[in-house]
Amino acid sequence: MSENAQKLYYPPEALVKNAAVPGMEAYQALVKQAEEDYEGYWANHARKLLDWHKPFSTVLDESDAPFFKWFADGELNVSYNCLDRQVNNGLGDKVAIIFEGDDGKVSKVTYKELLGKVCKMANALKSVGVKCGDRVVIYLPMSVEGIVAMQACARIGATHSVVFGGFSAQSLRDRLESSGAVALITSDGQFRGGKALPLKPIADEALSMGGCEAVKNVLVVKRTGGEVTMVAGRDQWVEEVMAQQPDTCEPEWVGAEHPLFLLYTSGSTGKPKGVQHSSGGYLLQAVLSMQYTFDIKPDDVFWCTADIGWVTGHTYIAYGPLASGATQVVFEGVPTYPDAGRFWQMIQNHKVSIFYTAPTAIRSLIKAADANEKVHPKNYDLSSLRIMGSVGEPINPAAWEWYHENVGGGRCPIVDTFWQTETGAHMITPMPGATPLLPGSCTLPFPGIQATVVDETGTEVPWGQGGILVVKRPWPSMIRTVWGDPERFKSSYYPADFQGKLYLAGDGAIRDAETGYFTITGRIDDVLNVSGHRMGTMEIESALVAHEKVAEAAVVGRPDDTTGEAIVAFVVLKGPRPTGDEAVATIKELAAWVGKEIGPIAKPKDIRFGENLPKTRSGKIMRRLLRQLAKGEEITQDTSTLENPAILDQLKG
Ligand code: WT7
Repeated sequence: MSENAQKLYYPPEALVKNAAVPGMEAYQALVKQAEEDYEGYWANHARKLLDWHKPFSTVLDESDAPFFKWFADGELNVSYNCLDRQVNNGLGDKVAIIFEGDDGKVSKVTYKELLGKVCKMANALKSVGVKCGDRVVIYLPMSVEGIVAMQACARIGATHSVVFGGFSAQSLRDRLESSGAVALITSDGQFRGGKALPLKPIADEALSMGGCEAVKNVLVVKRTGGEVTMVAGRDQWVEEVMAQQPDTCEPEWVGAEHPLFLLYTSGSTGKPKGVQHSSGGYLLQAVLSMQYTFDIKPDDVFWCTADIGWVTGHTYIAYGPLASGATQVVFEGVPTYPDAGRFWQMIQNHKVSIFYTAPTAIRSLIKAADANEKVHPKNYDLSSLRIMGSVGEPINPAAWEWYHENVGGGRCPIVDTFWQTETGAHMITPMPGATPLLPGSCTLPFPGIQATVVDETGTEVPWGQGGILVVKRPWPSMIRTVWGDPERFKSSYYPADFQGKLYLAGDGAIRDAETGYFTITGRIDDVLNVSGHRMGTMEIESALVAHEKVAEAAVVGRPDDTTGEAIVAFVVLKGPRPTGDEAVATIKELAAWVGKEIGPIAKPKDIRFGENLPKTRSGKIMRRLLRQLAKGEEITQDTSTLENPAILDQLKG
């Protein structure tokens, strides 16, 4: 530890004393418990933290590996655990959600009120024929209704699939088709940065594209008042349907393995994968990580700035905080409207004590504060904060230190939480009242998670040596399968290279030689991380070549100060290579096209044209070389096998 000693940040005494994991000895004791009796460790937590309608008698079932089952004969209801349980425990009048709109308007919803809304929505879904086991796609902005819709599905045993409101009609259509959704819940539109943006018109376009004929009902939330066309016999205003429904609804008791939700995420090849999550194991780790990682206490005000369209918004907005009986802030807008002090203003106004955001947001707010002193966090009273978190991508030490100093006043531990859509909950993260922090490192595994670093053969490498991040044992909140494609589940996450015995995260990692702390070194596959959003290079390439002018395209990532990585596209047109104004116009056209095909988050930041792409004699695109070109680096690679070295000059940008 000596080498890093001066860089480590220790938890404040006051926090350690009352922490769920008070000190490193307590952490090590938990790790040991889990090592000595793995099933017992998880079973104890599952009994203590969840209410079971029927207790489980089996814990981990590995008989059909890697299709693992947890608590399989137990029965529960996720919505019951999030809502009824709190009301029954005397928390009915506690505020569950403090909602702040894009326009700054604040409304509060208690647990009792939330339960009533969820029951009405659940009954509304039943009234249009949605049954246990059906899939429902939710295409809603950040809103109370979004959370209500997710909880309502859970209540009746319908499996939801939330599609991020920034995704295009094409992306929505693909997810509707792949999930076989029978209903869609959307809204007229959404407010972002003072603008009203349409959603229902995009949903209509998606539904008209074909392939989602299974969708019989569309329930529409009124938000912006924007103009919408309601298709008779298919579309209804959700308020109107809910108004006719009782505010109680018996929860559907489901098996612990019942699929709570599907969430589509990018892989290195082909279409996004529908990551299938369970009910019991998933909720267990949502609650346990609220305790261990966030040290949630009854008086805390928790705020996770993610969108419900991503897994962070599932585990740490829609499920974890509610199942913990916490009060949380839910925010509709963007961090820079009306100005870049919005987050700090909201922390001050709502007395947020636990704040969870993404490095990309922090980096952009650092820039904004540098440019305009008025939006610097020092102008706000942030003394309510006690714990802060980071998620989605590596946080660079400079941003970490700024966040720690200027937002956390030097007193709040930062939990840099490494996890994935597939893992359901935190995997490698500090415990705020225990782990000494090293900026840029997500430190040590969550108690019970057996993460390690291996080489290509699956052999563990010594600390200090980089390799591939894997997890040795299945854990309760893990992905169960890829919806409709079990083979892809196996080959993506339990590859034959490791005899199907290790979970492959898809990231590289290195453990510090002395502390064993993990640092994530980035994806080892063709997946990019732009502003904490996962994008497959192949997906963007397919979108580009679907444009009539494009013959061929290759997409790579380039490090970016604000967004972590930026998308760079190398494009060969069917016609001549454009230059000057024509190139500028074509770049605009192609970027807009990708935005329309996938969503604005997938728009390349940089598009370059060549008469060809650099290829080996056998026709393989030399991606490593493209990555160097994207960064503007000198080409150090051997280019003697290049068919046409002259194109390198064209692609230099
Ligand atoms: C990928 C998963 C899980 C929440 C949001 C993203 C990267 C995530 C960290 C972190 C370094 C991180 C990894 C991972 N990632 N958190 N704390 N430090 N990298 O979920 O879209 O499934 O992306 O995000 O590359 O594999 P996701």
